[in-house]
Amino acid sequence: PQVREFNFEIGTAAANPDGYTRQVYTINGQFPAPLIEANTGDTIVAHVKNSLPDGQTIHWHGITQNGSNHMDGVPGVTQCPIPPGGTFTYKFEIIEQYGTYWYHSHFGNTMADGIVGPLIIHSKDEPLKRGQDYDEERILIVTDWMHDQSADVVKALKSPEGFRGSPAAPRGDSILINGIGQTNCSSIHYPKDAACEPPAWSEMTLPANKKVRIRIINSAAHTLFRISLDEHEFDVVEADTDPINAVTIRELPIAPAQRYSIIVSTDVGEPGDKYWLRLHAAIGCLDGVMDPQTAQGIIRYAGEDGAGQNDTSEPTTQPWDDLAAMDAECRDLDELYELHPMEVIDAYETPSETRVLSSQFGTFLGAKGQNITGFAFNNVTFQNQIYNPVLSQVEKEGNFSSPYVASIEFTTSSYADIVINNLDGFLSHPYHLHGNEFQLIARGDGNVTAEEVEAMGLQIANPLRRDTIFIPANTYAVLRVKMDNPGVWAVHCHIGWHLAVGKLATIIVRPDDIRNFEQPDDWKGLCTGHPDEEGPAR
Ligand code: C2O
Repeated sequence: PQVREFNFEIGTAAANPDGYTRQVYTINGQFPAPLIEANTGDTIVAHVKNSLPDGQTIHWHGITQNGSNHMDGVPGVTQCPIPPGGTFTYKFEIIEQYGTYWYHSHFGNTMADGIVGPLIIHSKDEPLKRGQDYDEERILIVTDWMHDQSADVVKALKSPEGFRGSPAAPRGDSILINGIGQTNCSSIHYPKDAACEPPAWSEMTLPANKKVRIRIINSAAHTLFRISLDEHEFDVVEADTDPINAVTIRELPIAPAQRYSIIVSTDVGEPGDKYWLRLHAAIGCLDGVMDPQTAQGIIRYAGEDGAGQNDTSEPTTQPWDDLAAMDAECRDLDELYELHPMEVIDAYETPSETRVLSSQFGTFLGAKGQNITGFAFNNVTFQNQIYNPVLSQVEKEGNFSSPYVASIEFTTSSYADIVINNLDGFLSHPYHLHGNEFQLIARGDGNVTAEEVEAMGLQIANPLRRDTIFIPANTYAVLRVKMDNPGVWAVHCHIGWHLAVGKLATIIVRPDDIRNFEQPDDWKGLCTGHPDEEGPAR
């Protein structure tokens, strides 16, 4: 095992990823942020300097942080923000995990300004083997993109008027493929008068006559994408970070924060050939109506001796003709196909506890006595006690309760079922659990109580494991979790706009163990000098 050390400075730059020039947030000047690669067992040390005018935190999406809860990067939950000009060192070991992860800001929705990067963990234990299952690998990060700064959008969402007249959340102005997209410079929404000049197509070159593993990361603030590549089928071999038996499809649905690895065989044409990669947006899958927004990029087979490098003509390939049938389906991949994980694990034992988190849109109690229209779990919209994170409260008191944080506590159970009811009548959401991978034990229409779930007697062979699940409007999912990672862990909607306005709950696992946690010195430093009573920052 090695220590992998990084110096990250979060700053700003003017950029025009889709043609429209705005301020983006960068790490070491890069957008998207730099690739982190490590092996299972390594320790990651990231010295993060915040050169933005507002607070920041970094979260390592999917890493369980077993024994390092303080490094999970959630403001108001596991840490106080890194102040402007401040530095904080994240340090954690990668225990047993491998696969396609990513990292992003967890402050407000500033990941939508560009603080997102891939985090790839390699392992000789991974059943997928380079040289056998595939020859080379690539990373594809897709996202929706706004022309407004996220802080302006979040401020508007918190106001009675909402953003562009809606309290829910904005659709993106465009779509970026590995940081490059095309906006229509003549008809776009301009928050301000800025230069706009469409860039070249996003392009990726693959070796011809090989099998290429493409690790796809959806870092969007809102959008479920349907992705296809003209004339090429996809063998899906990894869901979030779990290897699965390949399922062959022509169009991949991927919700915000999810990852998939696909294997593409580049034997359809000749070296130098080029194909359209197509993205179709399905923002939140509103009312089952397809969003007409699309994006394209170019996938090129490498030519001999670099031939084709100066080819500027566009591909002439046509989309698969059976894509439209799936367009109407606003569904997670696991609902369309059975994704059998590659390593067989039976469902964890029948849990001793079943707890329910129901999420809803509505009007809730604000900490200043005001009404807040927005998103909640169990009728509580998270209000960020930003300098008194839930973790320090549990460390101090051994328990936690607040009218402004929905929280469920597991004191002794070894396993538990967490039911998520999406009570929204027309909005579908991607839900992410920190600190633990879950087994997807059941999903269905409507909503269910703990008693109903217990009566189902759920015990299934080889359940799908993942860390982010898309739950359509008016449906539920049952997630079985092994309660072996003491800590305070966020559960939230990964539509960044919904997260930023309070759609977050916490689970508290084994508070007695949390009382024995030791706070790193620089972690304590982030919280000192701020009165606990400062109160919720909404
Ligand atoms: Cu991808 Cu709470 O995060």
